[in-house]
Amino acid sequence: MSKGHLKYVHVIVVVLSLAMNPLLIPEAYIIGAQPLCSQLVGLSQGQKKLCQLYQDHMQYIGEGAKTGIRECQYQFRHRRWNCSTVDNSSDLCHWRAPSSLWLNAAGVVNAVSRACREGELSSCGCSRAARPKDLPRDWLWGGCGDNLNYGYRFSREFVDAREREKSFPKGSHENARLLMNLHNNEAGRRIVSDLAHVSCKCHGVSGSCSLKTCWLQLADFRKVGDALKEKYDSAVAMKLNSRGKLVQMHSRFNPPTNHDLVYIEQSPDYCLKNQSTGSLGTVGRLCNKTSEGMDGCELMCCGRGYDQYKAQIVERCHCKFHWCCYVKCKRCTKIVDQFVCK
Ligand SMILES: *[C@@H]1O[C@H](CO)[C@@H](O)[C@H](O)[C@H]1NC(C)=O
Ligand SMILES: *[C@@H]1O[C@H](CO)[C@@H](O)[C@H](O)[C@H]1NC(C)=O
Ligand SMILES: *[C@@H]1O[C@H](CO)[C@@H](O)[C@H](O)[C@H]1NC(C)=O
Ligand SMILES: *[C@@H]1O[C@H](CO)[C@@H](O)[C@H](O)[C@H]1NC(C)=O
Repeated sequence: MSKGHLKYVHVIVVVLSLAMNPLLIPEAYIIGAQPLCSQLVGLSQGQKKLCQLYQDHMQYIGEGAKTGIRECQYQFRHRRWNCSTVDNSSDLCHWRAPSSLWLNAAGVVNAVSRACREGELSSCGCSRAARPKDLPRDWLWGGCGDNLNYGYRFSREFVDAREREKSFPKGSHENARLLMNLHNNEAGRRIVSDLAHVSCKCHGVSGSCSLKTCWLQLADFRKVGDALKEKYDSAVAMKLNSRGKLVQMHSRFNPPTNHDLVYIEQSPDYCLKNQSTGSLGTVGRLCNKTSEGMDGCELMCCGRGYDQYKAQIVERCHCKFHWCCYVKCKRCTKIVDQFVCK
């Protein structure tokens, strides 16, 4: 295995298919009357029931999933598997790839927690998290915070429903995958939770900041993505034990906590297109001739070689600061070499 080889965090991808799915087009809800849960592509039976119970949540679940996928594409932009799907519009329920499901679990916590704070949902409001013990005594606690507690519970209910309603023989490979998915979803949520922090605002005479109001705030989702990517690269190999539980493959390492990602199989190499693994292959991908990393032509093109092109790119240049306060730039075109996998 080459260094940096992707582990096959085998997950049932994207609960939702991308392009044609009304879930991912929030406007459809604003314009339309009631979402028709039964028509949503890619929801499991249990998720359809939850959809009916919590119709006002669906827009945020869609946004959360979309944020998760976008973040996945950003984090994996230099990898052979770049989180793009083979076919946006098909039902991706049964389609597998190393995945963004944990990113979706995280994305849903994120979106729902915020929607609560913004008063968009009928069943939740501002965070009622307890005042942190280390908050200075004269600071006020209780600005309207992101409702992490609710978002976490809702994501567990909704995103995990798909796994929990399945049933496979104990000890089967399918069951191992199910356990892995549940574990990784939970890790996604815990990371969002770990990164939440206390945020404060100053009050007092002319910015003296003699008074502060503080609340719970979720981290920027990019930070969640960065953390999850790091977890992905240090994911722990697992296997089933004789009692049908997931245990660590190499017991000399520390066992994974529920903040760590796990996997049960090595990933395929994603060099060539393969519908069954969801691999688009790397033919036609841009690569970096001088990099020795995964984005370098050697690894990205799987040794097939590359073509070199001259490409024209437009950049901002000769920027000048104008008093006060804006920056004015010219547009310069330059010719660069681009390398594309054969
Ligand atoms: C899939 O969706 C993305 C983003 O919406 C779009 O850029 C891309 O062209 C689509 N791919 C296919 C194969 O339709
Ligand atoms: C696609 O991937 C599967 C699973 O790794 C493998 O068994 C199959 O041979 C591959 N198909 C092609 C056409 O490479
Ligand atoms: C991701 O990979 C696919 C196929 O390998 C390619 O068509 C697509 O442009 C890539 N997306 C990005 C953002 O690089
Ligand atoms: C290519 O990789 C090298 C070495 O990692 C890096 O310094 C350079 O900025 C990269 N070029 C592009 C266009 O990303």
